[in-house]
Amino acid sequence: MAQSVRGVIARGKGLPVELTTIVVPDPGPGDAVVRIQACGVCHTDYHYREGGISDDYPFLLGHEAAGVVESVGEGVTDVAPGDFVVLNWRAVCGDCRACRRGRPQYCFDTHNASRKMTLEDGTELSPALGIGAFADKTLVAAGQCTKVDPAASPAAVGLLGCGVMAGLGAAVNTGNVGRGDTVAVIGCGGVGCAAVAGARLAGAAKIIAVDIDPAKLETAKGIGATHTVNSRESDPVEAIRELTGGFGADVVIEAVGRPETYEQAFYARDLAGTVVLVGVPTPEMKLELPLLDVFGRGGSLKSSWYGDCLPSRDFPMLTDLYLQGRLDLDAFVTETIALDGVEAAFHRMEKGEVLRSVVEL
Ligand code: APR
Ligand code: ZN
Ligand code: ZN
Repeated sequence: MAQSVRGVIARGKGLPVELTTIVVPDPGPGDAVVRIQACGVCHTDYHYREGGISDDYPFLLGHEAAGVVESVGEGVTDVAPGDFVVLNWRAVCGDCRACRRGRPQYCFDTHNASRKMTLEDGTELSPALGIGAFADKTLVAAGQCTKVDPAASPAAVGLLGCGVMAGLGAAVNTGNVGRGDTVAVIGCGGVGCAAVAGARLAGAAKIIAVDIDPAKLETAKGIGATHTVNSRESDPVEAIRELTGGFGADVVIEAVGRPETYEQAFYARDLAGTVVLVGVPTPEMKLELPLLDVFGRGGSLKSSWYGDCLPSRDFPMLTDLYLQGRLDLDAFVTETIALDGVEAAFHRMEKGEVLRSVVEL
């Protein structure tokens, strides 16, 4: 039986989001219905609202979520009703060239639910990143549900579903930060702070947080940064070199998504060091670098998409580290809000007042 529940939708560019009734169908083959317990507010939801991702309104927003599987469709064996899961936006196919080569994190045939959620009048909804979790319940592909230890707080581990995984994975998976490395993180919002947490987890010797907002630098310190640089007050490239014995950092993570901060990252690393771009640029942005410097400085310039994560490998492991007190995911939850608080949370996010607002249901 299809069910009517509450959901937060975006109807058009510039329009405030609306809390309305949505219809969640029974799970089709390979699908699962999940009762949402918590869902973080991410920049991507805001970009959806603004039409920056597609024009396919109305969108059902929300995609950093944890909840409990309520029902599953035909053929679903990996999860069952009652399982506590973190949702992911890349359910890998197991069958494409990347998957067959043993690199499923690069799967190019990821999938979503086989059926559509709708408004009461039958209008089909486009769920943000194939999830749509600012809702009492949502319909996803079962592969988008990753079982984790139910002892964990849904608000905290739900963040593994997007922003925290992106930042942490940028350091650990993409940047390969190792014990004793020096790391700099440029931009210390939710994503950058997660990169700081990842660098700490990986045993980095120095973690230099760079931001233009002193409050963000304080937060980064609380999460594990050993040094902070306010790049409005001093040149971050010089400062990072100075803090690393004149060399530059082994790994520099760019978590802003702008050409000027990318350039800082490029020059702030040691010879043969690694730059990881996890901040998302906009289409008009261009990068200009002397090609001779690209060649002469060696090393690697990488991009990190979703932290190069493999949800089935990373979510349960990171949840366990959280439960052991080794990864403070609670530090990322600035506030918990109700389902009708998403629009206000967007405004706080745009003003840079929060790492994450998390809707609790
Ligand atoms: N130099 C240093 N820091 C900067 C600069 C700059 N020129 N401009 C902005 N920042 C800082 C902001 O002060 C803020 O702390 O970058 C941080 C960005 O954080 P958020 O806006 O909270 O964004 P976050 O959720 O962390 O995402 C960062 O990653 O996933 C992408 O789309 C996301 O591009 C965005 C980036
Ligand atoms: Zn695949
Ligand atoms: Zn997100």
